[in-house]
Amino acid sequence: MTGVDREWWKRAVFYQIYPRSFMDSDGDGVGDLPGIRSRLPYLASLGVDALWISPFFKSPMKDFGYDVADYRDVDPLFGSLDDCRALVDEAHRLGIRVLLDLVANHTSEEHPWFVEARASRANPRHSWYLWHPIARRNALGRPVPPNNWKCLFELRSAWFENAATDELYLGTFTRHQPELDWRNPAVPAEFADILRFWFELGVDGFRLDVATAYFKDAELRSNPFSWKPLDLFQRHVYDRNRPEVFGALAELRKVADERGDRVLVGETHGRDASLAAACHGERGEGLHMAFNFDFLFRPWSAKAFRDSARAWYAALPEGAWPNFTLSNHDQIRHARRYRKAGYTDARAKVAAAMLLTLRGSPFLYYGEELGMEGGYPPRGQLRDPLGIATWPLRAYGRDPERTPMQWDSSQNAGFTTGTPWLPLERGWRERNVERELRDPGSVLSFYVSMIALRRSRPELALGSLAFLGDDPGVLAYERRGEGGVSGEGRVLVILNFDAKARRAELPSDGSVLLGTHREPGARIQAGTAVLSPCEVLLLAPAERKYPEA
Ligand code: GLC
Repeated sequence: MTGVDREWWKRAVFYQIYPRSFMDSDGDGVGDLPGIRSRLPYLASLGVDALWISPFFKSPMKDFGYDVADYRDVDPLFGSLDDCRALVDEAHRLGIRVLLDLVANHTSEEHPWFVEARASRANPRHSWYLWHPIARRNALGRPVPPNNWKCLFELRSAWFENAATDELYLGTFTRHQPELDWRNPAVPAEFADILRFWFELGVDGFRLDVATAYFKDAELRSNPFSWKPLDLFQRHVYDRNRPEVFGALAELRKVADERGDRVLVGETHGRDASLAAACHGERGEGLHMAFNFDFLFRPWSAKAFRDSARAWYAALPEGAWPNFTLSNHDQIRHARRYRKAGYTDARAKVAAAMLLTLRGSPFLYYGEELGMEGGYPPRGQLRDPLGIATWPLRAYGRDPERTPMQWDSSQNAGFTTGTPWLPLERGWRERNVERELRDPGSVLSFYVSMIALRRSRPELALGSLAFLGDDPGVLAYERRGEGGVSGEGRVLVILNFDAKARRAELPSDGSVLLGTHREPGARIQAGTAVLSPCEVLLLAPAERKYPEA
């Protein structure tokens, strides 16, 4: 890539890879970096601009890589540093950027820092982590924790005993993920160096894992009660989401800016749009983007998505750039959430058209372009600690969305020659890259055309957006270039979320750019149009004709 393009991420289509599940090159049943490299031509032909790869650093895999034991090395399961270099170089050659995943809230219990820290209070690493002295024990002899903070994936207190120092350490995800003390300046300084290490290797940016959890209440106050079971009946105002984090994010941003075009995208945990918005900083000194997760929790309705997008646009500070996500490695895939007999693929196309044409960077999750729904492994094959802790409740476990990528109809969908670490989703013989590429009506063919259109019309990435109407079943908006990099073009996006035909008002004549029910180039007249069930219609409005003077 030549020249410094500081704003590439505003135009980019991002694609998340869960490395265990994308492509296995060595037959051990787990995906790896050479596997990803071998599939780069596919990603280039899909048209994505940037990958975000979930963690592949050295790890005991208690949370499948979100428990890091060495931030500067690759776990042998996934390959080596040289494999990583080769992957980044090859991606760049194909015009694809690469983001890694920085897990900076906690380490693995096996990280040498924690091994040292827990050995003695006098060890210099001790103050890198969060501790509380054991003051009292209950009738069963268990230490009494200082507050009500919960361990999310074990559904119990987040405080764990460390006998060697007679203290409790904090683990709000699993006991295997002790949490760092970001108030100790050595911790942010170390992560700044880790960023530099990977930037030096050529990496284009980072997704920051649970970025709003870095700071905890200094007084360790208990969280207040909440009625939300997904939040474990607590409002997380003290164990995360502290305002001190904004300063820390701004410091990390400075490190990214040393390189000009590197990007930080934060997982700002949860559905609080105002918190995510604040992570951008009031003057753009914070994250380039903070994930907006609201679509992950919206029901299938044009109104719900319009309201959500409107609220997000309104929440963002001036100059901040929006983003949208429908699926990731922590949530049931959206094709499954929105499935409806006879309409599942049609809905997947409507959703894709929305994701790829709203104003904001879209984040795709591997396999969504196939309409993958994921699968529920039997109890004996569950791998996710949260899924195991919450069995048989299906709503919580994260294995379903992590099943292997489906490449072709050969053994194990071409993912591995060994035994896949998670069973494949049912139906992979029909739903896979090879077959869908041959079918012009497939979800994959639709993604390919949508991304290509987005690339060819800069207004779809960078133009302004105006919603048209308030129909509860039809989502319609206009994207308009305003000169410069966003061009001068206009695109009308009309999406029928309903499984019934619906009417939509077209403000002007237009010709079809892309649609699920009409041929490109077909003319449509201004006025009332009847949309087919789940129809996607993208129109280039006709130039306005002014009467001659
Ligand atoms: C984030 C990740 C999730 C992980 C957790 C702890 O929420 O997305 O997969 O388990 O952080 O690192």
